Amino acid sequence: GSTKFYDFKVQTTRVTKVCKSRAIVTINGMFPGPVVYAQEDDRVIVKVTNETPHNATIHWHGVRQILSCWSDGPSYITQCPIQAGQSFTYEFTLVQQKGTLLWHAHVSWLRATVHGAIVVYPKTGVPYPFPFPYEEHIIVLAEYRYKDVVKLEKKVVKSGGGPPIADAYLINGHPGPLYNCSGKDVYKLSVVPGKTYMLRIINAALNMENFFSIANHKLTVVEADAEYTKPFMADHIMLGPGQTMNVLVTTDQRIGRYSMAMGPYMSATDVSFQNISAVGYFHYTGASINSVTLPPQLPRFNDNLLVKTNMDNLRSRDSHKVPLEINEDLFFTIGLNVQQCHSSTPNKSCQGPNNGVFAASMNNISFVRPKLSLLQAYYNKIQGYFSDDFPDMPLKNYDFVYGAPNNIPNNTQSITGTKVKVLEYGSRVQVILQDTGTVTTENHPMHFHGYSFYVVGYGSGNYNPKTAMFNLVDPPYMNTIGVPVGGWAAIRFIANNPGVWFMHCHLDIHLSWGLSMAFIVKNGEGPLETLPHPPADMPRC
Ligand code: C2O
Repeated sequence: GSTKFYDFKVQTTRVTKVCKSRAIVTINGMFPGPVVYAQEDDRVIVKVTNETPHNATIHWHGVRQILSCWSDGPSYITQCPIQAGQSFTYEFTLVQQKGTLLWHAHVSWLRATVHGAIVVYPKTGVPYPFPFPYEEHIIVLAEYRYKDVVKLEKKVVKSGGGPPIADAYLINGHPGPLYNCSGKDVYKLSVVPGKTYMLRIINAALNMENFFSIANHKLTVVEADAEYTKPFMADHIMLGPGQTMNVLVTTDQRIGRYSMAMGPYMSATDVSFQNISAVGYFHYTGASINSVTLPPQLPRFNDNLLVKTNMDNLRSRDSHKVPLEINEDLFFTIGLNVQQCHSSTPNKSCQGPNNGVFAASMNNISFVRPKLSLLQAYYNKIQGYFSDDFPDMPLKNYDFVYGAPNNIPNNTQSITGTKVKVLEYGSRVQVILQDTGTVTTENHPMHFHGYSFYVVGYGSGNYNPKTAMFNLVDPPYMNTIGVPVGGWAAIRFIANNPGVWFMHCHLDIHLSWGLSMAFIVKNGEGPLETLPHPPADMPRC
């Protein structure tokens, strides 16, 4: 492969959107940010310079970072943040990776506006396993907020309440005509009839899983999380934040203007939700600009069945070596719970249920970010920043209780801590991710850094090893899996990439509440199985 260089300047940029002018954080003044283009096996070098007063880091979501853990990017996990005025250079190789991924800030809620696409083409001369598309386009889905997201995160966490919903949704930075003052701020994709287009769709939203559809057009999914899939057709797709999908669309309809739309998927069935959406135009050349636009067609906000059907259809195209035998058998509950009002909250006006505060946990532990990055502490053997006693099973079973009880017992509180699970090099790992919750259950988009994993099973209700059905033949190979609401998913991977690797819910509010943990994967015996030294410009805490 060759080497691709990029210069990212983290900047404060003024934009006018949905009636208001605001300063947002961007890369090089662009929103969405610049696209990183590369080919399979290329080396990518990105110098990130922070010209804002905020802390910054960039994460290369879905890049497996083989032996380059130092460049992964989650703040306080693999690095200290890049402070105002400082810079850090990320370097990694896209070893056997091709497809669509994304990069995003991984500190506070900056990812809301600091994100962009990664497009990795196959090696020269290697075709796609489907007819070559007439054109390819990137579609980035996002949420937009008027408020400063760094301040907003602090405020929401302090109050203990839920996050405000987005002020708008965006398709490639444009809200579309359903919002005020945005009649002209519409993403338009011009197409010609009788061709097949490939759309590289990325959900970069902060706190919302999203549906996407194009009126009157079928979407043929050919890739998910940068892995080819057996093609399947759908009217609508759903992507959790961090997920990517390549779809083919054939322009086989009458010449006209069709709405493409994104809108929220809220799996929790006990909420009512207004289904607002961002709309763009899928515009056939030759259609008059005054032509009537075919309206958007989105599923209902809680269409869990549609999400399940798409998941059933998602199969790896390429044959993989799915680990058949496992020697690390882990069971992690994931979910939301309520804690008593923190004494630190001024006037104790906690805005969570039962005058408490929202929290989230894995195996009943709400993760607390350390003051020094876990990787630096581990590598330099500095004691006191984490403990290696993350449990293999939940500490208590109470949070199998579904629904929203009126009285949440005191003994349902999670404990806080910075705990990691240590894996021997080469371990064959299975993790059952079980959705739970004493306040509500919902679909959680669980993301694992440094690896892709096989989704070998999933189902509703509590996982039962006796009845669970597994697919060890062609399971999808993902980096983010939407664990079904009130259900479970089983993932498998081989721990052959040493380092410290974050696992967390990709809804940022859940991350703020502690729905995360980290693995340490130890070194192997050989020189090519050993974590390299940290780069010289590693930021300090
Ligand atoms: Cu895309 Cu840890 O995140």
